[in-house]
Amino acid sequence: MGGLHFLWQSLEIIAKEASKNASNLRMLSTFIIAAAVSLSTVLARAVVPIADSFPNAGSQFSIGLDPADDSNPPPPEPEPISLIELPLPPVALNDEPGSCTLELNPHGTGCINQTTNLQSGSFTLDSNHVTAVVEFVGAPAAPNPASIYTGLQLILIKADGTLFFNGDPWRCITCGMPAKNMVGQSQNLGYPQAFGDGKRVLAGDNIIDCGEFEISEECTPDRVHVYPIHWNVVANGSGPSGTMRELRIHPDGVHLAWSSFTATGQLCYLGRLEFNESPTTGLPLSSRYDLSNINLLFDIDRASTISVNGTEIQVNYDAITIGEVRGFSGTGREITYIGYPAESCNIDVFAIDLYTGTVRRLTSHPEYADPVDISPDDQWTVVMDTRGSGRQMFLAGMRNVPPIIDMITTAVTASTRNNGQRRFFQPWLIDRYGDRGTYFGQQVNGAGNGRPDSVNDPNWNGMADPKWSLDGTKIVYWQALVQPPACGESNPFPCPDSTAAGGRTSRIMLASLTSRESVSKQVIIEAPDVVPWATPFTPGNSDPEYPMLFAGNYSLYGRTCGYANVTIVPTSSGKGVATVAVTYYNFSSDGLSILNGYERVSAQQPSLAMNHVDWYSDLVQTVNGTRHATKKTSSDGFHLSINVMKNIFNANGTLTTTIDGIIYQQPQNGT
Ligand SMILES: *[C@@H]1O[C@H](CO)[C@@H](O)[C@H](O)[C@H]1NC(C)=O
Ligand SMILES: *[C@@H]1O[C@H](CO)[C@@H](O)[C@H](O)[C@H]1NC(C)=O
Ligand SMILES: *[C@@H]1O[C@H](CO)[C@@H](O)[C@H](O)[C@H]1NC(C)=O
Ligand SMILES: *[C@@H]1O[C@H](CO)[C@@H](O)[C@H](O)[C@H]1NC(C)=O
Ligand SMILES: *[C@@H]1O[C@H](CO)[C@@H](O)[C@H](O)[C@H]1NC(C)=O
Ligand SMILES: *[C@@H]1O[C@H](CO)[C@@H](O)[C@H](O)[C@H]1NC(C)=O
Ligand SMILES: *[C@@H]1O[C@H](CO)[C@@H](O)[C@H](O)[C@H]1NC(C)=O
Repeated sequence: MGGLHFLWQSLEIIAKEASKNASNLRMLSTFIIAAAVSLSTVLARAVVPIADSFPNAGSQFSIGLDPADDSNPPPPEPEPISLIELPLPPVALNDEPGSCTLELNPHGTGCINQTTNLQSGSFTLDSNHVTAVVEFVGAPAAPNPASIYTGLQLILIKADGTLFFNGDPWRCITCGMPAKNMVGQSQNLGYPQAFGDGKRVLAGDNIIDCGEFEISEECTPDRVHVYPIHWNVVANGSGPSGTMRELRIHPDGVHLAWSSFTATGQLCYLGRLEFNESPTTGLPLSSRYDLSNINLLFDIDRASTISVNGTEIQVNYDAITIGEVRGFSGTGREITYIGYPAESCNIDVFAIDLYTGTVRRLTSHPEYADPVDISPDDQWTVVMDTRGSGRQMFLAGMRNVPPIIDMITTAVTASTRNNGQRRFFQPWLIDRYGDRGTYFGQQVNGAGNGRPDSVNDPNWNGMADPKWSLDGTKIVYWQALVQPPACGESNPFPCPDSTAAGGRTSRIMLASLTSRESVSKQVIIEAPDVVPWATPFTPGNSDPEYPMLFAGNYSLYGRTCGYANVTIVPTSSGKGVATVAVTYYNFSSDGLSILNGYERVSAQQPSLAMNHVDWYSDLVQTVNGTRHATKKTSSDGFHLSINVMKNIFNANGTLTTTIDGIIYQQPQNGT
């Protein structure tokens, strides 16, 4: 089962319970990265008249062609990166009480299981410790002192090869906490992120707080408190928190960003955390963090990449299309997110300046980018990306195609990035100026032989999030080994044996950028309480409505030459877009590539998660008069059905992109 499926189930459970219940710590929703769901939210967005403008960063040009933008410095040379796996508790044979024996763990400090729920978090202040959430199993029954090592817990891992006083390279922070210190804790401990004060960790919608002590050896169970975060969503302030997901703490330690599903998609927010020791309204009525000064990260005037003006259709590259928040830049001035494509079928990460609203495209390689972290000095990006795998090239390999059909194809083009549990992500290091010319960053774990015991065995799939150390010399990320049915069974690829200790199927990796000097402590730019371009959030008010796309016939003019005729056909209800057809006539917006041919796509959504497209393409592009690319469907068209939460590729017909004779084909069905 795909992670997104778990996510969906968990969300349903959360919705039904509508209350925070600390007993069910086994919920899996914490371990999910759910871009595909959110990406369906950036579909068919508003039609609002905005002048055409162009993005201010990232290459808009074809692979191999240097954009004639001399303002960017030359790309960096590859640098030395050393990799080690970080230690984790030993693996128990099974989940039975007592299966974590003293033979397995002589210190009696817990075990995890082979397919453990795991998620690495971030570095703490000293850059030598990493937070993680693990699920302990096999603890002996109380009153055995080892009985506290059970269930989902926050641990701290040594990242410098040293040990804690008891001889372990990890230490559980939340194990054995008295119940009175965790009243109202929610199930979700996902994305554990250390605060800049060194004393707190955000984990899911909880804040784990060591009071005056640092998250360290001194942080003993009696000193730790877990406080839930409460987001009031009703006018009279009653009831439980609104449902938050993908929470990210700002480096100022005061502001929080999060995403939240709506009936039709997802919206993203930024708010201010305020400790409320004795709340008098809302649930739980225990000490908690309340959110105030909430900004809905949405601007009605810049809500859509595609807009129309009379009979003209326009592409607005400075639209604010925050599909799902991913985090903040190192100094905190920008918020990162997955947004509506800037080039057709190419999913990228973007950053927007919280003060000015300037949008920056962080990645532009045609492959799919998602979990991302910007370095403390804002000069580097590390991103989990399918680049190098060839997975998405059949869709996005042709560059500079305006993102017109993407009004209805984004859900499917985002969902093909995975095959269920087989993800094609690996971590990539890219400088601030992004992909350009022949530079597409450096694979963090690129120096291996690809074999099962190597750091770049493709069966170990990148997960969310990679994170920078505050000294700028290390990156921590984690990977999961592909599991059935994404291998074995009916899948043509056999399942690999785990090479990790105890046959563990997840691992945390530490990358050291050995040629780098520590960066000095940066001045953090506190996030604004009122984001000038955002929409104030008022509890109880309804979500904003995206203006409807107008059905009709339009022309899109190339900035350099040519045009495209675009037809938008509405669904029978008139509330959505059923079909988009585009025909290009010597279209060029960059002065280098000239596009001709057509695409016509119809989309249906038989259920919330299921998407089907009927797709016809015959595009021909010449670049600089010398290079040649085509994107073509078979004569019977390309018909793809995909569940955005399961990510199993299932198509009839073909869609093929050819670039200078290199043929990029779609994956085989089921793979
Ligand atoms: C819309 O089109 C009209 C007529 O061509 C033009 O004058 C106007 O500037 C356009 N508006 C925008 C926002 O592009
Ligand atoms: C490991 O833990 C997971 C999650 O709780 C559980 O589904 C699985 O059955 C466990 N595996 C073993 C071998 O006990
Ligand atoms: C507060 O508002 C909610 C939602 O509108 C409603 O269900 C509830 O009864 C109200 N409670 C009070 C005390 O007014
Ligand atoms: C768009 O053009 C097509 C084909 O030329 C035509 O059949 C259709 O009526 C037009 N639609 C609108 C809304 O003008
Ligand atoms: C494109 O659309 C415009 C406006 O409807 C029309 O005048 C023109 O003939 C169309 N071009 C082609 C090649 O169909
Ligand atoms: C496109 O450009 C080519 C070469 O300049 C020219 O032969 C052709 O007629 C043009 N086609 C259109 C539809 O303008
Ligand atoms: C592929 O074709 C078969 C036979 O017509 C049909 O049953 C199936 O639904 C099609 N699948 C897709 C993804 O279009």
